[in-house]
Amino acid sequence: MSRLPIVCTDTDASLPDLRAEADPIPLAARGTSGFPGWLADQQGRRLKYLRLSVTDRCDLTCRYCMPPEGVPASPKEEFLSFEEIVRVIHVFQHLGVRTVRLTGGEPLVRKGIEKLVAMIRDAGIEDIAMTSNASALGKKAKPLAQAGLRRLNVSLDSLNPERFAHMTRGGDLSRVLEGIDAALEAGLAEVKTNAVVVRGHNDGDLAELVEWAWSKGVTPRFIELMPLGEGAKLGRGAVVSVAEMKASLSHLLIPENDPEYRTDRGPAGYLMARDGSGRKVGFIGAVTDNFCHRCNRVRVTARGEIRACLASPSGFSLRDALRAGHPNEEVLRLVEDALFGKRAGHEFYVDGVDRHHDVDMSRIGG
Ligand code: 5AD
Ligand code: SF4
Repeated sequence: MSRLPIVCTDTDASLPDLRAEADPIPLAARGTSGFPGWLADQQGRRLKYLRLSVTDRCDLTCRYCMPPEGVPASPKEEFLSFEEIVRVIHVFQHLGVRTVRLTGGEPLVRKGIEKLVAMIRDAGIEDIAMTSNASALGKKAKPLAQAGLRRLNVSLDSLNPERFAHMTRGGDLSRVLEGIDAALEAGLAEVKTNAVVVRGHNDGDLAELVEWAWSKGVTPRFIELMPLGEGAKLGRGAVVSVAEMKASLSHLLIPENDPEYRTDRGPAGYLMARDGSGRKVGFIGAVTDNFCHRCNRVRVTARGEIRACLASPSGFSLRDALRAGHPNEEVLRLVEDALFGKRAGHEFYVDGVDRHHDVDMSRIGG
């Protein structure tokens, strides 16, 4: 049914010739080019995980994330359409992406989000995840699950209604809890909570969040406040380190040297429950732990810019490339150039060694 020239299936063997032709240099040999942090696996594939923002708007304005007035509305055409998002996904499937996480802003404010999830599933992505504040999830959980959503991360900073409302500038905790219940009832394969820990706000709430989440079969995670945008305005003193968080939960968790430590995907490090139940708590040390070397993800903004890293201020505009009428093969080449550095020819990769690191980096920056 697809009109698109790039149709990706599960095995490398069934990929069209496009890949071999477009990529004469073995990916593994280029493993340190461009972004040194990106991992090449045995197949030479680095990118497994695409985070795709579907809107920059949100129905909450958390103090560490949004300015009090929220973000101004922009014309619809500025954002990738669902059809364009599916093209983006086809392109990234060729770079190894098998997991797509929808983010925002708040993905549920994008109209018809469940239709997009179904389109992504139909494009061949089995592992579809979402990060949501869950305040509109009560009604949406079931249709989303039916459309193919498998995993959900819910932002939940506190179980105290006043503190929650304060941190989110007016959020209603009961709606979020209803949303989480709806997600569990809808049978999603995995539900996690994310709390950004802010000193003086919710740093005393960690144990309560853990016990509550565990009682629901949900995995709680705690995130260091990142000094980005609004988060920076809270000041360095508001950052609670992962070490401090772990110390405050040491009565519940087995320390670091557990063999199960860091078995999950992504940058979160996990500690296991002392009670042997196999339950765990994730910690994301965005500030104190440089996890870039374990990063296998790429971000695409709602406006269709590729961000190789959360910290990159700007990126390559996939949207413009798509709208310029390039076929998917050409878009794939442009994406590879943007992400891994211009494929400038064999002379850059003599003996598989990248001697032009700076060239790649400047190209990426440009
Ligand atoms: N620091 C850490 N995490 C943040 N998030 C938003 N802003 C920040 C910040 N400054 C995270 C929230 C939410 C997701 C949408 O982004 O935890 O889960
Ligand atoms: Fe919205 Fe999530 Fe940002 Fe809070 S952290 S304002 S819920 S996008």
